[in-house]
Amino acid sequence: MGETGKQFADGVLAVTGGGSGVGEGLARYAASLGMAVAIADIDHEAARAVADDLVRSGGKALARKVDVRDLGAMDAFADEVYGELGPVTLLINNAGIEQFGYLWDVPEVSWHRLIDINVTGVFNGVKAFVPRMVRAGVPSRIWNLSSMGGVSVGPRQAPYIVSKHAVLALTECLKLELESAEIDVSVAAILPGPVTSRIFESAGGVESGDRAAGEAERTAMLKVKDAAMSPLEAAERVFAQGAAGDFYLLTHPEMAALPWPSGVSSSAREAPHDSSRASSTPPVGERLVGYSNRAVHHMRDKIGTVCCGSGKPPRWYSWNNP
Ligand SMILES: NC(=O)c1ccc[n+]([C@@H]2O[C@H](COP(=O)([O-])OP(=O)(O)OC[C@H]3O[C@@H](n4cnc5c(N)ncnc54)[C@H](O)[C@@H]3O)[C@@H](O)[C@H]2O)c1
Repeated sequence: MGETGKQFADGVLAVTGGGSGVGEGLARYAASLGMAVAIADIDHEAARAVADDLVRSGGKALARKVDVRDLGAMDAFADEVYGELGPVTLLINNAGIEQFGYLWDVPEVSWHRLIDINVTGVFNGVKAFVPRMVRAGVPSRIWNLSSMGGVSVGPRQAPYIVSKHAVLALTECLKLELESAEIDVSVAAILPGPVTSRIFESAGGVESGDRAAGEAERTAMLKVKDAAMSPLEAAERVFAQGAAGDFYLLTHPEMAALPWPSGVSSSAREAPHDSSRASSTPPVGERLVGYSNRAVHHMRDKIGTVCCGSGKPPRWYSWNNP
């Protein structure tokens, strides 16, 4: 058994949105390491299909219909997981949705829905699980799904990008808080690049205004998906970096090798994915004291940030006059 297997085998994973895409890959990979897996998903059928499959392959798994926007439902899920599978050693707050269109065209209800799922859903996971992790007294971990969109900006996906910056900030704060409270729960942020999933198909669009602009963005992102990584490969990379104790868990380290200061942590630099272009960065701890990686970036170079979207290659924008 490799180092990753040694660290995670016999543990219990609770993952939200584990019925599809990134979450499904994380659930399946965790099970392959010997973890029991609890899946919370608003799509009960999808979650149950994954859990049934894991059980058929000899694993331990359960699936529950949970809307991550509902703290009561997350609490009930946590109770069931602790009761049926034992103490959760890894919580992955993964459930998330996308939204396309110019910000002024985005329906108010879609804005609130996205922020409630992508940001409040993560908060609810923390609220439901941290007290139970403390009571159980078992060293445990929380990984939250940000995105490469959490360290970049782009047009026609603003609600999503805002939410992923927020999740990264939430996760950085949570790490500092757990450390300062001397609680044995470690925290990491997962920043995937393109991974095969249903997120763009099920993304919201706009009903009035420039519908075509929103749909053009969806088409561009669906094209990006043609070259996306499989969820299982993404999960393998994430778990390897998690086992190495990294804070930023990347599926595509070469994307972070663009000259932004979030950079790449040591184990990600060693990943086989075009690691030659990775930039050297200070240890994660240094970046975390006081400032988020984005703040350091903005202050250091007085440049904007990398911008992607509409299938165009990433480029740099200067927010200031040269
Ligand atoms: N796929 C990518 O390329 C990519 C890149 C960066 C980040 N991410 C992040 O990965 C996470 C998973 O996305 P994905 O791409 O696998 O999408 P996906 O649509 O394939 O899967 C998302 C899952 O979340 C579930 N879900 C949606 N709303 C929910 C709710 N309110 N409560 C509970 N479950 C809910 C869905 O039913 C689905 O099973 C998201 O947070 C996303 O932002 C994905």
